[in-house]
Amino acid sequence: MANDVITKVLREYQQLRDKNAHLARQRKEEIYKKLPRIREIDDSISTLGIKLSHIVLKHPEDANTRFEKIKNKIRRLQQEKGELLAVNGYPVDYLEPIYNCSDCKDTGYIKGRQCHCFKQRLVDYTYAQSNLGRRLTKENFNTFNIEYYSDAPFGKEKLTPRKNMEIIYAACLNFVNTFDASDTNLLFYGSTGLGKTFLCNCIARELMLKGKTVVYQTAFKLFDILREYKFRSNRAEYDKKQLEDLVEADLLIIDDLGTEVNNAFISSELFNILNTRLIEDKKTIISTNLTLEELAKHYSERIISRIIGNYKIFKFYGEDIRKKRSL
Ligand SMILES: Nc1ncnc2c1ncn2[C@@H]1O[C@H](COP(=O)(O)OP(=O)(O)OP(=O)(O)O)[C@@H](O)[C@H]1O
Ligand SMILES: [Mg+2]
Ligand SMILES: [Zn+2]
Repeated sequence: MANDVITKVLREYQQLRDKNAHLARQRKEEIYKKLPRIREIDDSISTLGIKLSHIVLKHPEDANTRFEKIKNKIRRLQQEKGELLAVNGYPVDYLEPIYNCSDCKDTGYIKGRQCHCFKQRLVDYTYAQSNLGRRLTKENFNTFNIEYYSDAPFGKEKLTPRKNMEIIYAACLNFVNTFDASDTNLLFYGSTGLGKTFLCNCIARELMLKGKTVVYQTAFKLFDILREYKFRSNRAEYDKKQLEDLVEADLLIIDDLGTEVNNAFISSELFNILNTRLIEDKKTIISTNLTLEELAKHYSERIISRIIGNYKIFKFYGEDIRKKRSL
């Protein structure tokens, strides 16, 4: 599986490079037709470039001076080219190579290591699998609607659902904005249909846009991955990759904790993941329908004290938005 995905991603890079190279050629033709002087400039630049490479062989004694002279000529030509383009209403870099990711020049690798864009593409496949891709376009900080939360008192809660949600919303924004600097983790708990997954998506999307790797898994799926990995005899490469992502992603979102079938093995695996992430300063968001007491009953003491000590805990309450929307 893993190799499948990687091959697929690499093919995408190839297609991207082909597409951009094609686009660059079209631009060149267009400009050469419109502004013939630019073709002359390009020709001169490449002639000078060849000269440059011969200097060291032909004139080793005053190579440096000659080098500088030619480089200056090239610089002047490039400047003229840029000005010509600008005067005619084109961006100065219109004829430069085109890259979607200038860091790795759309190769997916920087000095033999996977570029952030490569990692993100791999993660995107996980997203596609978990169906979050579609939700992400609909659920983000711009579409978050505070009106769904009532401003009337709610049960014994001190704050109205609206006020409570304003605090949570601000904390989520803050989580995104201070992502690199802080060591905050988040736990969302509360009953169903209150926007826990929605806010996870808001955060996921924002961080993905910043180039962070984000892995979203429901607890159910997560434990499936763990179980598969543990009990499978031929551990496919992709399973391992999925497992690694859980530990290595900049952000791991575990949604719906408490819905999975629980046992001692799962508890200890969960502890390992959460713990490793804490040690390695990687952030995690957990969402659950369980109360803290219920969590304590479901999972080991160790997990709960880990969570309480290292997570900002937010209670969601109010009326089920799913119900409200279907009215
Ligand atoms: N602030 C919001 N603005 C607009 N739509 C929202 C908001 N919060 C939630 N929704 C919508 O309400 C529905 C329920 O939200 P969501 O799935 O996030 O709830 P949840 O708290 O994760 O529930 P569960 O515990 O059942 O998983 C979704 O369709 C979601 O798009
Ligand atoms: Mg949810
Ligand atoms: Zn890249």
